[in-house]
Amino acid sequence: MIKVAPSVLSADFGNLQRDVEEICNSGCDLVHVDVMDGHFVPNLTIGPVVVSAIAKCATKPLDIHLMVQNNTFFVELFAPLKPEYISFHIEEEKHPHRLIQKIRSLGIKPAIVLNPHTPPESVEFLLKDLDMILLMSVNPGFGGQSFIDSVIPKAARLNEMRNKINPNCLIEVDGGVSDKNIQALKDVGVDIVVAGSYVFGAKDRKAAIKSLQI
Ligand code: DX5
Ligand code: ZN
Repeated sequence: MIKVAPSVLSADFGNLQRDVEEICNSGCDLVHVDVMDGHFVPNLTIGPVVVSAIAKCATKPLDIHLMVQNNTFFVELFAPLKPEYISFHIEEEKHPHRLIQKIRSLGIKPAIVLNPHTPPESVEFLLKDLDMILLMSVNPGFGGQSFIDSVIPKAARLNEMRNKINPNCLIEVDGGVSDKNIQALKDVGVDIVVAGSYVFGAKDRKAAIKSLQI
C-alpha cells in the first residue's frame, strides 16, 4: 500500500499544532516538512524553532525535505530532532556520497531529491547507499502547483534501477499528488507520496489521506 506524507507547508500556520495533530490522528504515515532557504528556491519557510515545535506534537515520523544551499549545515541543525528521513537535492550537493554517510552516522535515513529535469541515472552509483529517492513532480518552492506528468516514466525507470541495485531503496514523489494521479504512481512502483494542498485543502482530511493509500 502507498504511504502518505502530508506536507505541512499547506497547513494553517496559525494553528500548526492542531493541524499536525489532526493529520497524525487521520492515518498519515509520515509528516513531510519542507525547509526552504530563499536561495536554492525562491521561497523561505521554516527553521529549527518551528520544526522542533512540529516534532513535539507529531506522533508520526518526520520526513524533512531540504531545499537549501548549505546542506551539511542544515543536516546538523535538524539531526537532534531525530527525523526518520532527511532528503537533500542532488543539484545542490558537490559531495553527495559523503553527506549520505554523514546523515546515516547521525542515525537518520538518507534520501536524495531529484528536480523534474534530473535523470534517475544521476543517482545510479549512490542507490545502494540510500534509503529513499524523492522525485519532484513540481518545481520545488511552492505548494499547490500542477503535477508534471513526465515523473511517471521517470519513476518507472528508477523502479527498474532500484529493483536491480537496491530493492530496499524507496521511491517517493512530491508535488501535485491527488486522487487523479495516484493510480499511475502506484502502477510504476512509487512507495510514498507527499500531498500538501490535496490533504489540507480537503473538507475531510482523513478521507483524502485514505484515498491515496491504495
Ligand atoms: C514543494 C514542496 C512540496 C509541496 C507539496 O517544493 O516540496 O512538498 O508542499 O504541495 P502540493 O501537494 O500542494 O503540491
Ligand atoms: Zn517537499
